[in-house]
Amino acid sequence: MEIKKVGVVGCGSMGGGIAQLCAQSGYQVVVSEINDEFLKKGMGAIDKTLARSVEKGKLSQADKDAIMGRLKGTTSTKDFADCDLVIEAAIENLELKKKIFAELDGICPPNAILATNTSCLSIIKMAVATKRPDKVVGLHFFNPAPVMKLLEIVKTIATSDEVLEASQKFGEVLGKTTVVAQDGPGFIVNRLWIPFLLHCIKLYEEGIASREDIDNAIQLGLNYPMGPLTLADMVGIDIVKFVADALYEQLKDPRYIVPTLVDKMVAAGWLGRKTGKGFYDYK
Ligand code: CAA
Repeated sequence: MEIKKVGVVGCGSMGGGIAQLCAQSGYQVVVSEINDEFLKKGMGAIDKTLARSVEKGKLSQADKDAIMGRLKGTTSTKDFADCDLVIEAAIENLELKKKIFAELDGICPPNAILATNTSCLSIIKMAVATKRPDKVVGLHFFNPAPVMKLLEIVKTIATSDEVLEASQKFGEVLGKTTVVAQDGPGFIVNRLWIPFLLHCIKLYEEGIASREDIDNAIQLGLNYPMGPLTLADMVGIDIVKFVADALYEQLKDPRYIVPTLVDKMVAAGWLGRKTGKGFYDYK
């Protein structure tokens, strides 16, 4: 199961980051979006990130050009026809993901691995939308994908050992440390992180401490790279709510119930960095 060419469905912050990382690691990459406007925006963001690395002297212009040369943007799923691995990084909607998997199954070579970057949805439900459930696996990257050191590999009851092994090797080529989790609610990271994050938000909602003090306490007291409220703004408040709601739906554990403040922020469109306002202002 040799992986030479990688497809990525979706060129938003996660899909774009995964596509960039794969191209940086030497793979030929095709990345798709639903229209030209989104594709241009996603490819532009990758170009800008790499240009910043050139400015900082961390990447040569020739290497940047080579990476961009390995990346092809498309709005047609047909361009995945010769991919050995396709990673779906579309929005978190199970019905949409099932449709994408069924379509990929009809287009990709019979041996190709079909992966999803979902944070919280059931992977076996996507796998059964294909005729190759043994070749469906979760490859859960963390934001920003080119930088974060972890790749969570999620194995369903149908995933073959061969596909698991190929996924681990792929993670190594990307320079990631891999961990393996079963296809259960939130896998490892989100199962543990979400209750902690919601607790931090509750503390802020209850006025126990200011947002800055909660962030400083965790960042400096526990040596985290950033405070939890800053991180929630980076991930997106809508994403935090979606993941927490999905986990509550599956686990019925009150630790996964989002504080009212999160519902209000989503209703107000305060989704974090991407909308210019979340727990903090970014305008
Ligand atoms: N894309 C690509 N590269 C990026 C980037 C992005 N969006 N953001 C930062 N970087 C790169 C920078 O270019 C820089 O690279 P160099 O060292 O080569 O110059 C490097 O990352 C460090 O960036 P900065 O110096 O600007 O800032 P920093 O040192 O404060 O690091 C950070 C930024 C990597 C985001 C760091 O603060 C961090 O690790 N934060 C925590 C992130 C985290 O926990 N992510 C997981 C979120 S949960 C998730 O994703 C799962 C889910 O299912 C919801």
